[in-house]
Amino acid sequence: MRHPIIMGNWKMNGSLTANAALLDALLPVVEGLGSIEIVICPPFPYLSQAGSRLRRNGIALGAQTLSEYGAGAYTGEVSAAMLKDLGCRYVLVGHSERRSLNGERDSDIAQQLAAAKAEGLVPVLCVGESLEERQGGETRAVVGRQIEAVIDALGIDSMLGSVVAYEPVWAIGTGETASPEQAQEVHAYIRGLVARRSAVIAERLPLLYGGSVKADNAAALFAQPDIDGGLVGGASLDAAAFCRICRAA
Ligand code: G3H
Repeated sequence: MRHPIIMGNWKMNGSLTANAALLDALLPVVEGLGSIEIVICPPFPYLSQAGSRLRRNGIALGAQTLSEYGAGAYTGEVSAAMLKDLGCRYVLVGHSERRSLNGERDSDIAQQLAAAKAEGLVPVLCVGESLEERQGGETRAVVGRQIEAVIDALGIDSMLGSVVAYEPVWAIGTGETASPEQAQEVHAYIRGLVARRSAVIAERLPLLYGGSVKADNAAALFAQPDIDGGLVGGASLDAAAFCRICRAA
């Protein structure tokens, strides 16, 4: 019932030239993988460049964040309607780098998710604990708080048509991946938490794992029953590695 989803988050990397080379290497390989949803999330200035290429290859376009506001005097911000206009289908909300570097709070993130859904975008709610929180035995409490903040603000229906990405902060860009068992344990917890409000929505909710997903650890992660795909950072900038990750889904 849940199709695998592999998302490549380019973060703040790329140039017109580098993106063209990456897409040239990537698209002919991944366009044949019809049973999985592949999503590329370039930086805002390159959405048009990537979008025009992806449309021809059946790959979805995503953005890395959005404003909670619709329009107006919000210098530097980008609205859900603008992302829709550019052909985005997905948008990340609450990535840990946005939470830590831009001070985004659970309440802001809930409003961003609402703004995305109001425009028909698929929000990908990113959650995860720091190393200190994991070592303190707070993983479930942190992840639970991050998800319940959205559900409490918007209702359980906000999870219908959304995606959740579990990204332990200690595994992002560090080369240290959660083991398949560690990731599965948190994914099962998340699905159970949503199921307490709606078993139907929990069963349909795609749960992605992110944090140093590489070509050689992807298959074991994706084999877990509650891991429905990956949110890939660094390895999504390497066409060969990203293709192997997509094939592992
Ligand atoms: O959005 C992607 C995640 O932050 C994971 O990044 O694969 O470089 O660890 P990473």
